[in-house]
Amino acid sequence: MAVQDNAPIGIIGGTALAALAGLDDAQQPSTADTPFGPPSGPLLRGRLATRDVCFVMRHGPGHKLAPHRINYRANIRALADAGCRQVIAIAAVGGITEPMRSGRIVIPDQIIDYSWGRAHSFYDDPDGGVLDHIDFTTPYATPLCEALIRGAEAAGLDPAGSGVHGVTQGPRLETAAEIDRMERDGCDIVGMTGMPEAALAREAGLDYACCAVVVNKAAGRSGGTAIHAEIEATLAQGMVDIERLLEQTLPQ
Ligand code: HPA
Repeated sequence: MAVQDNAPIGIIGGTALAALAGLDDAQQPSTADTPFGPPSGPLLRGRLATRDVCFVMRHGPGHKLAPHRINYRANIRALADAGCRQVIAIAAVGGITEPMRSGRIVIPDQIIDYSWGRAHSFYDDPDGGVLDHIDFTTPYATPLCEALIRGAEAAGLDPAGSGVHGVTQGPRLETAAEIDRMERDGCDIVGMTGMPEAALAREAGLDYACCAVVVNKAAGRSGGTAIHAEIEATLAQGMVDIERLLEQTLPQ
């Protein structure tokens, strides 16, 4: 992985990675606080493969926080304060386009943000200026994405190395018409937590990439399979794949 120093790698675990079993030498979790309040849960420090990592559960212990209730600013700020320069965000998503089949790992390269009403910027100063406009043309850090793709391949997976990540507000799933619209917009996958997390990471100067696992076909694409049943059937293997991918990615 393209890292300049020995800074810990931040990992934000989601529905597809509730805990990190491979974390050894885990130190006492720190209850990092930030000017924006506490993060979703304690930061778990430890080593994974050959790297120091700092793990935070996006939905908090017990998966209590719905996507629109997550304090994205606190999570990103806590990881930055812990010394992280790079963040790998794990996400469970629905597949919209045909190649995004259930179980597939996707390293998206673009985002369309449909979320609303979330605290989405660190730049809250009413007298802020032009510097507040971060360049978000390429929302994910390309070298980190490439490292994840290589890690997935080394783990024997068949990752989709690009894709447009549509981020909805949730917590409900989408209607079939909303998914049709998202496909017309160019979205390949749909999730609820990718924003404002990615933009906040950019504002904080962190390299950020997403490792998504498709856990269901998006609404209207399932051919009759109940979405929740599909998620349940896919999630366990997805978690195993993501852990293997991380173990292959981190030593690089
Ligand atoms: N839609 C939105 N978010 C999701 C989905 C979905 O179908 N599956 C997992 N997260």
